[in-house]
Amino acid sequence: MSELLNHIKSRIVSEGPISVSDYMEEALFNPKYGYYMTGDPLGKQGDFITAPEISQMFGELIGLWCAVIWEEMGSPKKINLIEMGPGRGTLMADALRAMSSVPRLSAAINIHIVETSPSLQRRQKRNLKTLSFNIEWHESFQDVPAGPLILIANEMFDVLPVRQFVKSTSSWVERKVGCNGLGELAWVLDQSCLISDNLIPPQLMRSKLGSTFELGKIAVDLVSNITRSVVKYGGAALIIDYGYLKSGVGDTLQAVKNHNYADILSEPGKSDLTAHVDFECLAKNARTIGGVVCGPVTQRDFLRRLGIESRAAQLKNSASTRQKSEVLTGLNRLIGTDEMGNLCKVMAIVHPDHLFPEGFSIKN
Ligand SMILES: C[S@@+](CC[C@H](N)C(=O)[O-])C[C@H]1O[C@@H](n2cnc3c(N)ncnc32)[C@H](O)[C@@H]1O
Repeated sequence: MSELLNHIKSRIVSEGPISVSDYMEEALFNPKYGYYMTGDPLGKQGDFITAPEISQMFGELIGLWCAVIWEEMGSPKKINLIEMGPGRGTLMADALRAMSSVPRLSAAINIHIVETSPSLQRRQKRNLKTLSFNIEWHESFQDVPAGPLILIANEMFDVLPVRQFVKSTSSWVERKVGCNGLGELAWVLDQSCLISDNLIPPQLMRSKLGSTFELGKIAVDLVSNITRSVVKYGGAALIIDYGYLKSGVGDTLQAVKNHNYADILSEPGKSDLTAHVDFECLAKNARTIGGVVCGPVTQRDFLRRLGIESRAAQLKNSASTRQKSEVLTGLNRLIGTDEMGNLCKVMAIVHPDHLFPEGFSIKN
C-alpha cells in the first residue's frame, strides 16, 4: 500500500471521514507524496496534455492579448506579468516570444511565477532560464509584490480542492471520504455536516434528490485576492479552465492517469484530480469586489476572436507536410467543438477604467 494511502487512512481513523477538499489536498499537494509535489505529470509521457503543450499558438495568442491589455493600461513602465501554476513554463515561453514584437513591453515586465510544486518549479527554471528576463518564483499569490498586473492562470483553477454536498430529503449533506468494512477508502455521506442555504445558488435549491453541489471556496478566495489587486493597481487577470458558464449541480470530480479516467479513491497521489470550475460563482465574487468581468466564453470563441485560424494558416505556409498536419491537429484540439474548444471556458477580470479586452463579446 502506498505511504500516502496509509497516511490518509490513519487520518480517517483518528479524525473520522475527511471532506473531498481535504482528500484532494492530500492527494495533490501533500508535501511529501502529493501528485503535483513529486513529479512532472504533463505531456505525452505523463498523464494529460494541456493547451500550451498542444500548440505554440495558444501561448502566442495569450502573449498578444497581454500586449493589448498593457497598451490599454497606458503602457506602464513597470508591470508584473504573473502566471499561476505554469506546469512546464511552455505558455510563458511562447507568450514572451510573441510579446517581444513590442520591445517597450518586454522592457517593462517583471515576471512572477506562482507555483506550489517544488519539482515543477525546477522544471520551469530549466525551461525558462535561457530567456533574458528577470523571473521570481513564489508559493502563493499573496507573496507577489504589489503593483499593476497582468495575470494568467491556465488549467490551474480546476485542481483547487472543492467540497461536495448531496441533496437529501431535508437539506444538503456533505460527501466525504471514509473507510469501508474492508479498510478500503469509500464514499460516505456525513448527515451531521450541512451546508448553509445561503451558499447554494437560489436556482439550485430545488434540485433533484441526490444532486451534487460543489463548493470551491479556495478558488473563490483566490479570485477575490486577484480581483482586489486588479482593482487597486490596474490590469487584468485571464482565467482559462475546464468548467461551466452557469452554476449547476453535478459531480465533476475526476481522476486521470495515463490519459485515461482512473478510480478516484484507489491510488491517491498517483493520478490527477480535478473538478470543474464554477465560472459564474467566480464572476459574482469578482464583481462584488469591483472588478469588471468579461465572459466567460468558450475557449473556441476566445481563440477564434484572437485570430487562431489566421495564425495556423501562417504557420502552415512555411511548414513541412508533417508539421502542417500537426498544426491542424493542434488547432482542432484547441477549438474543436467536441474537444477543448467547448469544454474549456475563458474569463477575464479587468480594472473598471480599461476597455473591454479582445476575445470577449460585449454581449456576454
Ligand atoms: C494542470 S497543471 C497546468 C499547468 C499549466 N498551466 C499548463 O497549462 O500547462 C496545474 C498547475 O498548477 C499548479 N498549482 C496547483 N495549485 C496551485 C496553487 N494553489 N498555486 C499555484 N500553482 C498551483 C500545479 O503545480 C501545476 O503547475
